[in-house]
Amino acid sequence: MSKSSARYVMRLLVAGASLAVVAQAQAAPPPTELSGASLFAQNCSACHQLTGKGVPGAFPALAGDAFPQGPPEPVVRLLLNGRGGMPSFRADLDDRQIATVLTYVRSAWGNHAPRIEPAMVARVRGSAAQDHAAQALQAH
Ligand code: HEC
Repeated sequence: MSKSSARYVMRLLVAGASLAVVAQAQAAPPPTELSGASLFAQNCSACHQLTGKGVPGAFPALAGDAFPQGPPEPVVRLLLNGRGGMPSFRADLDDRQIATVLTYVRSAWGNHAPRIEPAMVARVRGSAAQDHAAQALQAH
């Protein structure tokens, strides 16, 4: 191999390596699937406490509470829209995360209710958006 073609190969290798670095930087990071327990710890426990017992007089208990273990739609709607001192998680959590954290709430601390699927969260989110659109139309 001549000296110049060796240099050419080297340049190709360097170019290839830097392309690989760029490609790696551009590839979306793998989505980190948080468990229900860690989603709850990050988003809910400040008020409802890690024990799910809440703070009497301020934040309702979720442990042993009938509402979060009841029909799933009202619970999903509460998370999407918030209510009183309960914040809305519509913008912060996606369908899968809401399903995961609610499934956790429905099965932790001795709670015992069927899991909630992301598809049902998507459906409630969509119908809530339609409600908003209908209200906006009515307002005009
Ligand atoms: C900033 C404090 C706060 C955070 C954070 C919070 N909540 Fe709440 N939550 C409340 C309050 C206050 C209420 C009572 C609202 C009301 O009475 O209208 C409530 C009510 C609820 C209820 C209904 C309980 C019942 O019996 O009516 C559920 C279920 C619930 N929250 C789940 C969650 C979940 C799941 C998260 C995390 C994704 C969360 N909350 C985060 C304050 C909070």
